[in-house]
Amino acid sequence: MNYTIETLISREEVESRIKELAKLIETDYKEKDLICVGLLKGSVMFLSDLIKEITLPLQIDFMNVSSYGSETTSSGNVKVIKDTDIDVRGKDVLIVEDIIDTGITLEYVIGMFKTKGVASVKTCTLLSKPERRKIDVKVDYIAFEVPDKFVIGYGLDYAQKYRNLPYIGAVVFEENK
Ligand code: IMP
Ligand code: MG
Repeated sequence: MNYTIETLISREEVESRIKELAKLIETDYKEKDLICVGLLKGSVMFLSDLIKEITLPLQIDFMNVSSYGSETTSSGNVKVIKDTDIDVRGKDVLIVEDIIDTGITLEYVIGMFKTKGVASVKTCTLLSKPERRKIDVKVDYIAFEVPDKFVIGYGLDYAQKYRNLPYIGAVVFEENK
C-alpha cells in the first residue's frame, strides 16, 4: 500500500521536551538508586537522549518483550525475549518506553519488576495514545500524547524501518492506489 509520512512533532520540539522530562526525573531521583530500563528496540533513541540530560549516577539496562494477539485479552500475551542483566533488587527502576498504546506491555513489565523486589518502579514514555488504552496503567512521565495514528521515528518503526528519523511522523496510507 502506498503511503506518505507527515511530521507530527519536530526534532526541536522532541529534544526540548526530553530535556524538561530529564530535569523532572533528576529532581525526583536525587536520593534514589536509579536504573533506567529501556524496552527494545523502540526506546533506544529516547533513552539515550534522556539519560544525557540527567546528571545523576544512574545505571541503564534493557529488556526485550513482545506482545502478540493482545487485542482482546489483558496482560497474558507478553513474552520476555531478553530480561535485564543487572540485579534490580533494591533499585529504583524507571521503565523507559517508546509508546504506550493499549498499556498491556507496560502493565506486564511493571508486574515483573514488582516480583523482583525493587525499591520502586515508575514509568516514562516518549509517546502515549490515550484513546487506545485497554488497561489503565499508571504512566509517571509522558513526553507527548498523540492521536490514534500510526506513528514512526525517534525509535518507532513501521515494519522495522524509520527508527532513525530524528522527528516523530505519522504514516498516512493512500487508499485505492
Ligand atoms: P501496548 O501498549 O502493549 O499496546 O504496546 C505498545 C507497543 O506497541 C509499543 O512499544 C510499540 O512497539 C508498539 N506500537 C504501538 N503503537 C505504535 C505506533 O503507532 N507505531 C509504532 N509502534 C507502535
Ligand atoms: Mg515497544
